[in-house]
Amino acid sequence: WAMFAPYVVAINQLKKERNAVILAHNYMTPEIYHGIADVVGDSLQLAIEATKVEADVIVQCGVHFMAETSKILNPSKTVLIPDMEAGCSLAESITAEGIAEMRAQYPGAPVVTYVNTTAEVKAASDICCTSSNAAQIVAAQDSDTVIMTPDKYLAQNIAREVPQKRIVWWDGSCIVHERFTAHDLNAFRAHNPDTRIIAHPECPPDVVDAADFSGSTSGIIAYVERERPAQAMLVTECSMASNISDNLPDVDFVGPCNMCPYMKKITLEKVLWSLHSMQGAVEVDPAIADKARRSVQRMIDLSQ
Ligand code: 13P
Ligand code: SF4
Repeated sequence: WAMFAPYVVAINQLKKERNAVILAHNYMTPEIYHGIADVVGDSLQLAIEATKVEADVIVQCGVHFMAETSKILNPSKTVLIPDMEAGCSLAESITAEGIAEMRAQYPGAPVVTYVNTTAEVKAASDICCTSSNAAQIVAAQDSDTVIMTPDKYLAQNIAREVPQKRIVWWDGSCIVHERFTAHDLNAFRAHNPDTRIIAHPECPPDVVDAADFSGSTSGIIAYVERERPAQAMLVTECSMASNISDNLPDVDFVGPCNMCPYMKKITLEKVLWSLHSMQGAVEVDPAIADKARRSVQRMIDLSQ
């Protein structure tokens, strides 16, 4: 921590001078998560918190689509992302044309789009979802067929939770979660039968089957805090276990985990630079933002 202290002090001071708040995703490194974040959470919590911000400036410690969502919900505020290259394989996998293709293939079916997408894609969709509310959002659609984009694994996992709907999906995936395999988890379990295995729903369905529980990042944290297993394997991004292990000394967190190269582009140094220079402001075309806001707001309204 000694090497982080000067950054943490300087950032917290600059936050006051700029009247800024830091919204940080659960995948941020511990020094960001514990040292400078005003709000931490999963994608849904961060979107909801973004609607309540009173400060003039939001610094999004997360990936670009999260900063865009904050901007969509706060068009008159400055939303900074410390590294514009903090992308997401899911957001890159689909464009508004892809949504139009799906609509042409399944006429009349509503499009439920994961928040891990660009503003243009959200604008072309009917409603957004996150991993914590996807089943609820899909179940609420007034149609037998529902299009889910762009995460095929989330869609396949939700299809099992909402069997009354015919779910069709886009062929996108998360490069972090698609690397876990059921074979590895089952082999681990064979030697460690008491370890609680907890997987994010961006993992393939057979990986989720091999786990004891599946949920959003905050769902995973809540599960571990509630259950307090002696040993836990979080089948998700590496920082999750690092961020919660200090407060759960009785839980032994074991690997493997995968690093998200996009999330890891956000560092203390870059946060300090963005607050100092006020560079890295996210802009969304107002007409696109208006349409995208409808999809995000519908999701928030259904989730509260
Ligand atoms: P949640 O925090 O909503 O579970 O999403 C995980 C993720 O991959 C965000 O990029
Ligand atoms: Fe995208 Fe996966 Fe990284 Fe989340 S963990 S930002 S879904 S690539």
